[in-house]
Amino acid sequence: MLRYDHRNLLRSDLLPAAIPASRLADMQPACREAHEEILADRRADILGFYNLPEKDLGPITDFLDKLDPAFDTLVVLGIGGSALGNRALYSALKTERNLPRKIFVYDNVDPVFLHEILSQINLDVTLFNVITKSGTTAETMAGYMILADLLKKRHPADYTRRLIVTTDREKGFLRQIIKREGYPSFVVPDNVGGRFSVLTDVGLVSSAFAGMDVVALLQGAAAMRERCSEPGESNPAYLNGLLHYLYMREGKNISVMMPYSNSLYDLADWYRQLWAESLGKRYDLKGREVLVGQTPVKALGTTDQHSQVQLYTEGPHDKVFTFLSVENFAHDYTIPNLHPDRDEVAYLGGRQLSELLNAERLATEIALTRARRPNCHIAFPALDELHLGEFIMLYEIQTVFTGKLLRVNPLDQPGVEAGKVATYALMGKPGYEKERSEIKDYQAQRGE
Ligand code: PA5
Repeated sequence: MLRYDHRNLLRSDLLPAAIPASRLADMQPACREAHEEILADRRADILGFYNLPEKDLGPITDFLDKLDPAFDTLVVLGIGGSALGNRALYSALKTERNLPRKIFVYDNVDPVFLHEILSQINLDVTLFNVITKSGTTAETMAGYMILADLLKKRHPADYTRRLIVTTDREKGFLRQIIKREGYPSFVVPDNVGGRFSVLTDVGLVSSAFAGMDVVALLQGAAAMRERCSEPGESNPAYLNGLLHYLYMREGKNISVMMPYSNSLYDLADWYRQLWAESLGKRYDLKGREVLVGQTPVKALGTTDQHSQVQLYTEGPHDKVFTFLSVENFAHDYTIPNLHPDRDEVAYLGGRQLSELLNAERLATEIALTRARRPNCHIAFPALDELHLGEFIMLYEIQTVFTGKLLRVNPLDQPGVEAGKVATYALMGKPGYEKERSEIKDYQAQRGE
């Protein structure tokens, strides 16, 4: 079970500015209301991610059982919620679990990045997974057209078995293409938003392909859902959400997630999208301008101790910190006692690298606490599917709960849509002529 330690968000002895326990008590009616709203949303089938632990894995298993075993690599073409979860899971486990197959995630339209991926893969044994809920995102469509064309030219007889599509069950352009061309396909459920979709086919197909135990991933998610089913201090999602909400109200508008594990760095990236897109909102549910949100930042321990921690301990009091750590690593090294007669390094001799890593995490926690910086800690007993599943469910529930406290809609992203529309207009997509002429005016004003 993930260990969540929130004491340094509440310690008034070390943190004079910490949230007093009485504030938690005052917030109980609001928390109960948020909980009731979540229950109502679940009944209305709006929060589909809650039901994913019961997901039928049959179609994924069938597909992988029939897949040509020669395929040893999968490239995800997707962006945002259609990409970040895939990368987070693969990065977390590829080395720790010695995963037998490779995953690449192409989540941009950078030509050099595409070239880099193409130069590392063998097209003949690579499967492509085009993932897009809407089926229209320009970045993903561009990647799809380049790769589908490449495959058609290289494997005209059987290109359709080399590309799969994950999109809406019924709607969208790509569903029509699936029907026309016969690509194998998977589904992004209607009631699960992009950034909440890692435990749908969006993240599970590539994870299962790579060799992860996706059953354990869902079991971990189920266990956390159970742990977060009732309001109160034993619910880590609600407690952490409430404390972050209260710190936001105190002007701590930055949330730093700092894994002490390279493998978990991309999980912090997944969190970054979830927290930013869900809570960063201009309007509340009543349409009032509120301009809320908390800027998520990722940092890597120990590496960023030599880059960011100076700012974190002595800079503005505008941050809340979350440390992630791993208690037991599958791979570890003993530092040899190479210079036993030299005090400068002898203290390291005979110690495990993981021991040093976790000691440095604790040292940073102590330094931040002494500098009156609120922080919490989530410890992974091990880097495995079970605990990753727990983490994903923890943060998805925490995000929705915090959105309820902020009185915003954590499931929409109108600010992202605005950018998508402007891109369509700039690139000449039919139907966006008005926006295109507005952009032309903007460019003319700037003399471009
Ligand atoms: O969370 C979200 O909804 C977004 O980040 C989307 O995942 C992202 O914009 C990609 O959208 P789509 O999957 O429709 O291509």
